[in-house]
Amino acid sequence: MTWTYLNKEFLRREEVKISPFDRGFLFGDGVYEVIPVYEEKPFLLEDHLGRLGRSLNSTGIKNPQKWNDIPGIIHELVKKNTFSNQSVYVQVTRGEDSIRNHIPDPKVQPTLFITSSELKVNPYRLDPERKGLEVKTLEDPRWNRCDIKAVTLLSNIMAMNEANLEGKDGVIFCTNGEVTEGAASNVFAVFDNQVITTPESNQILSGITRKHVISLLNNKGIEVQERVLKLEDIYKAEEVWVTSSTQEIQPVTKIDGRELDIKKSYKDSLWHELLTSYFSLA
Ligand code: PDD
Repeated sequence: MTWTYLNKEFLRREEVKISPFDRGFLFGDGVYEVIPVYEEKPFLLEDHLGRLGRSLNSTGIKNPQKWNDIPGIIHELVKKNTFSNQSVYVQVTRGEDSIRNHIPDPKVQPTLFITSSELKVNPYRLDPERKGLEVKTLEDPRWNRCDIKAVTLLSNIMAMNEANLEGKDGVIFCTNGEVTEGAASNVFAVFDNQVITTPESNQILSGITRKHVISLLNNKGIEVQERVLKLEDIYKAEEVWVTSSTQEIQPVTKIDGRELDIKKSYKDSLWHELLTSYFSLA
């Protein structure tokens, strides 16, 4: 049985309903977070709620009434949904309007929806020797505010669906030959022991895992260069990884059908070292 939370109460998955007049349904007028939970403990929760607050601010969506209670609600939900590792989904839409109108009624009250599902163990933890991810690159079709974690993910879905139908594991978006980010992840590459990741801007989401990985690296005395990552260079990288709250860190070994020339075994790879020390700063 899956439990959810809607606005003010816990409801079973079969009971929870929202109106089609909710602006999230009509316009995709909403923002969200995905928070990993390990052994019932939310990981980097404050960072996620901080980013949710910024997404609400940027979009002018009001904070939900229960804003201050969200950590407690997540805590209770995680207990009700019995998996020890969970992926908690928090969505806030601008709310249910009386009619469909692009301009929201100022009186509209936000809708808060929270649910969770099992968070599968990162397969590279279980078997670091397994084949790396195979991704394709696509020209980034998205809008200019990818820094907002908006629920409007049609471009991401179309790209990931295309890759999946071709038997690929994911997508890396590029703009004019420069890597922006993955369709649901951030991208890192290693050249001559230098770690590079695309700088924060309105073209990418400031990933919580990205920030965590940068801290882990800094903690090991490794500087991360936040600078433009050229697509033509990434094919020649020593290591490429994607990072996200659900994927943690995963290595990429094939891009656009081209096998990367990875010389190191996983034991000497930075991605594996980072995965091993993933929880050391939390
Ligand atoms: N997405 N970039 C995009 C476009 C993303 O959708 C995500 C994560 C990330 C990584 O962000 P973080 O490290 O904070 O999870 C970057 C989540 C997992 C999702 O939509 O399911």
